[in-house]
Amino acid sequence: MMNVQAYVTRQYRFCAAHRLHAKELSDDVNRKVFGKCNNPNGHGHNYTVLVTVRGTINPQTGDVTDRERLDHLVATKIVERFDHRHLNHDSAFQDVVTTGENLAKFIWDELVGGIAIGQLEKIGLIETRDNYFEYQGEPCR
Ligand code: NI
Repeated sequence: MMNVQAYVTRQYRFCAAHRLHAKELSDDVNRKVFGKCNNPNGHGHNYTVLVTVRGTINPQTGDVTDRERLDHLVATKIVERFDHRHLNHDSAFQDVVTTGENLAKFIWDELVGGIAIGQLEKIGLIETRDNYFEYQGEPCR
């Protein structure tokens, strides 16, 4: 059994506030584009992050990555950074709107270089019952 590829997806959760607001647009246009998501005080979500890693099935252990190391990476890079914070106050989102699309891309960029075994394949982000976002960037090697 040589070089058999498989995928593993781990789920992580954090709670955060945000406000959809584009600095270069007027207040009126912001209200039209983002509706109630533009309310000045923001609102919260219980985010679920799905991190998918692709790798070769290790013939001894039968897995494609080290889940403990992945959990540690996501905890330190993502969950501790955002949990119970206001995303608009994070340095990453000073000039970037805190949409699910941008958040999924940011999570990809933070994690892609840190996967010890295997490669990052995809980031999924559940924001609400009806909003699910995905991002797949360039692999780092
Ligand atoms: Ni929202």
